Amino acid sequence: MINIKHIIATKMPAVVNAINFYYDYRQYNKYNYGNKKNKSFSAFEGKIYRQAHIIEKGLSLSEPRLGFGYDKICVLFEYLDEYIEKGYSTNETVFLNALNVIEKYLKFHKDKQFCNDKVKIVETKLKCYSEYIDNDYACGIEKTTRRTIMNECNKDFESLVMSRHSIRQFSSENITLEEIKRAVKLAIHAPSQCNRQSVKVYCSCDKVKKEKLDKIINGNTGFAKDVNNYLVITSNISSYTSAYERNQMYVDGSLFAMLLMLSLHSYGIGSCALQHSETKEKNLQVKKLLSIPDNEVVVMYLAIGKYKEEFEYALSKRKSIDEVLIIEC
Ligand SMILES: Cc1cc2nc3c(=O)[nH]c(=O)nc-3n(C[C@H](O)[C@H](O)[C@H](O)COP(=O)(O)O)c2cc1C
Repeated sequence: MINIKHIIATKMPAVVNAINFYYDYRQYNKYNYGNKKNKSFSAFEGKIYRQAHIIEKGLSLSEPRLGFGYDKICVLFEYLDEYIEKGYSTNETVFLNALNVIEKYLKFHKDKQFCNDKVKIVETKLKCYSEYIDNDYACGIEKTTRRTIMNECNKDFESLVMSRHSIRQFSSENITLEEIKRAVKLAIHAPSQCNRQSVKVYCSCDKVKKEKLDKIINGNTGFAKDVNNYLVITSNISSYTSAYERNQMYVDGSLFAMLLMLSLHSYGIGSCALQHSETKEKNLQVKKLLSIPDNEVVVMYLAIGKYKEEFEYALSKRKSIDEVLIIEC
């Protein structure tokens, strides 16, 4: 009997690839929260965490603009109202974090003695949720010093991990190429699928190119001028085969990036991973700027800089262990 599946798999790899990429496309299309039909808890969780983070991120800049973020907070309130309407639990971290981040936003403005109509509207709206506000809730921003961070990151592994945060304000001190090399040398020890080692890190010392990257990159709004440099992390498609390995560039690239962020941190360099802009145009722009070959994909950027003597960072509240570790006995 003719086995059609076997023939397609062996003779027509492009068809197999298309089927698997199409499977990913369908799944993504169905479940991403941009799909208005998706009213699942996970969809609310994703968009509420993101929207609340936009606010705390704004607070973590070196010079937050007073009165910033009103439109973003209105969207966040819409999500929270809908979350309640759907009957989702008000004990969840995602819900409590969002409301308490808004409270920190109001506290920030109060401390600066700034008030306008928009801040008043936020204040009035938050009163509807006052039962969920806890002044001791750890969220929003935290102030620290370079000395504290340097003490912590050189103690033990736990302290290294717990003291790394995404940094959005940096000192004006330059990072040397030697320092970058030292950190990348450590990150090279990241695991990769079958030791494929597809990852490259692009780093330009050209200030004009840095300024061009400031504009190409989307996620650096409000702190691009503080960034000392960018590391562009790429992964080579040609290291992988068939659709079965279609996501591996991003897995290997991300493992590398995580180790690189920790390495930089251990050497006194702060970083913030930045999303790679998704459009074809942006891809082509950054590839042209840094002469990145077409067979490489940009996984993410790292904005880097030395720690300031004193600075704030966003706390980015984490889920509880029970929300993450699913144990079946
Ligand atoms: C892949 C990736 C992309 C990110 N993109 C951005 C970004 O575009 N802009 C930004 O300010 N932060 C960005 N971040 C940083 C996250 O906001 C941050 O990691 C998260 O809030 C957790 O905080 P922490 O890194 O301080 O632990 C990104 C992080 C990752 C892993």
